[in-house]
Amino acid sequence: MSTPLITIAVQRRDEEDVWILLTLDRVPSEPWQLHFCLGRHIDASSLEGGELIHQSGSYKVIAPHPGSRELALCCRKTAFKRLTDLPQGFFLSLPESREGAQIMPVTIAGQELGLDSPAPAGKELAEVETEHGIVPQPRRLVRLEGNFRLAERAHVRGPGNLAALLGHFNDLTSLALEQDHDAEISLVQGELPAEGYRLLIRPQGIEIAAGDVAGWRHGLVSLAQWYLQHGESLPCIEVEDAPRFGLRVIHLDCGRHFQPMASLKRLLRQMSLYKFNRFHWHLTDDEGWRLEIKAFPTLTEVGAWRGHGLAIGPQLSGGAARYGGCYSQAEARELVAYAASLGIEVIPEIDIPGHCHAAIKALPELLIEPEDHSRYLSVQYFDDNVLNPALPGTYHFLERVMDEVCELFPSPLIHMGGDEVPHGVWTDSPACQRLMVQQGYQDIRELQGHLLRHCQGYLAAKGRRMVGWEEILQGDKVSQEAIICAWTSFQAGLDAAAAGYPVLMAAAQYLYLDLACSENIEEPGLYWAGTPNLEQVYSCDPAPADFHANDNILGVLSPLWSELVHTRDRLDYMLFPRMLATAEVAWSLPGDKDWGHFCARLPGQLAILDQQQVRYRTPQR
Ligand code: ACM
Repeated sequence: MSTPLITIAVQRRDEEDVWILLTLDRVPSEPWQLHFCLGRHIDASSLEGGELIHQSGSYKVIAPHPGSRELALCCRKTAFKRLTDLPQGFFLSLPESREGAQIMPVTIAGQELGLDSPAPAGKELAEVETEHGIVPQPRRLVRLEGNFRLAERAHVRGPGNLAALLGHFNDLTSLALEQDHDAEISLVQGELPAEGYRLLIRPQGIEIAAGDVAGWRHGLVSLAQWYLQHGESLPCIEVEDAPRFGLRVIHLDCGRHFQPMASLKRLLRQMSLYKFNRFHWHLTDDEGWRLEIKAFPTLTEVGAWRGHGLAIGPQLSGGAARYGGCYSQAEARELVAYAASLGIEVIPEIDIPGHCHAAIKALPELLIEPEDHSRYLSVQYFDDNVLNPALPGTYHFLERVMDEVCELFPSPLIHMGGDEVPHGVWTDSPACQRLMVQQGYQDIRELQGHLLRHCQGYLAAKGRRMVGWEEILQGDKVSQEAIICAWTSFQAGLDAAAAGYPVLMAAAQYLYLDLACSENIEEPGLYWAGTPNLEQVYSCDPAPADFHANDNILGVLSPLWSELVHTRDRLDYMLFPRMLATAEVAWSLPGDKDWGHFCARLPGQLAILDQQQVRYRTPQR
């Protein structure tokens, strides 16, 4: 039989529920099942034309009624507004034969979202005169008379060995600057704030003053941007600059879709061009455990792979084929060293106690309490993704993982997740009930605090500080040493800061780079927290000037969750140009930000991204 074709149509039979109609043009004569991925929960009782026999996360399996080629399924109370919401990764499975289970690919022949007026993808940017400049906007930049000619092999003198700094500069510019006593570019010591620099380009030479290595690096990066826009004849300028926030972070979810090392290094280089100084590496999630842990080889042998017939079924972009990947410890070390060479520290994240489907599938004997009959459903529709804070195996697992993570990552900050633990978990676990009685806990969420407090103490004994999503405050057990990543709103971050916690601002409404940039149905991305366009991202302010606990706002974190990021082009598209806007939110003082001026500087930056073959989204408002 030739490959079946499937058509997908979305129907709205009432205000809140979405019906998805799936029609196959032909089906095998023997019994078959339809497999696909859909980021929604299907109401099993709604099914027409078949039975829902499995759903876990986004993975769904339907057995048709005899003779049926049409299926209808209902997703209750959900929005469905984008082509990227539609189900994908279809295939049929046929009964076991002597050759084993048979898989038959299914081709999508048509899809209809049932929304007839696609919203515009955005408005053109205001007509402004292009101006070469620096992103993020420095505190002061003035043009001086004349030009300086930057030769390919110009010489640089400065304190100590400059090999690492010049290596970074040369990597960004493809120049070949060398250290020498007799030099036209000097790095000099200056009284400047942390990471601050003064860059002076005059016809006779260039001077970068700074009080620390980070300052010289930022001065060189600004010089690199200037060179990449002007070429060798650099208009003379004086720049004085320092960051608003000390931590400027890009997060990438490598759990949902594995991102190859080359993509990560490319991202680190791009981050360095915009003065980000931390990479938050989200290494584990329900759909994949990506970091080799020597104590538990199955974490990656099993937990890093998904596909038909595997412990973890197909997820997200789906398909029957084995999909995944992991980072060996050697690769993790390599990435840490590469990031350090660009002035970036890698903060690893092991996301617990929720988001642990892959870990639990890899180590069921350690992480499952057979008598636990609690029922829950996570926001991404897993019913088996939470570690049990009352099992000895959980602590054994986490301590070995933290041991190895601390060995691999020199960062003083280790992120332990803590987000989105679903309601209903642990309520029917005898071990949890015993722990609650023993500890005198009244609220089930105290168990989460209990586990995270243990991790905080364990990390502290190794000289590390725990970072977590804002839910680590639930259960009121972690100390104010913990750094809070506030993601549900800026207000959540302001509240945590006012309560005495250091905070990274990651408000989804502005800083989540996985959100779609517009209402257009073809615009890829999620939209649960809105569709922030470039101007909205640019214009946000994480900490009002009159906010009394400003000192507790350590920085700005822009996450890219990867449910929909399955190719490098999509990675580029979601990151750029909004990452330039978040760079300016994190670095520049509110009084130095100006949307019109940013638009004027944008074409110069896009030309740099073009040189680097970055497939950015055409900027719009
Ligand atoms: C999160 O978006 N769950 C931190």
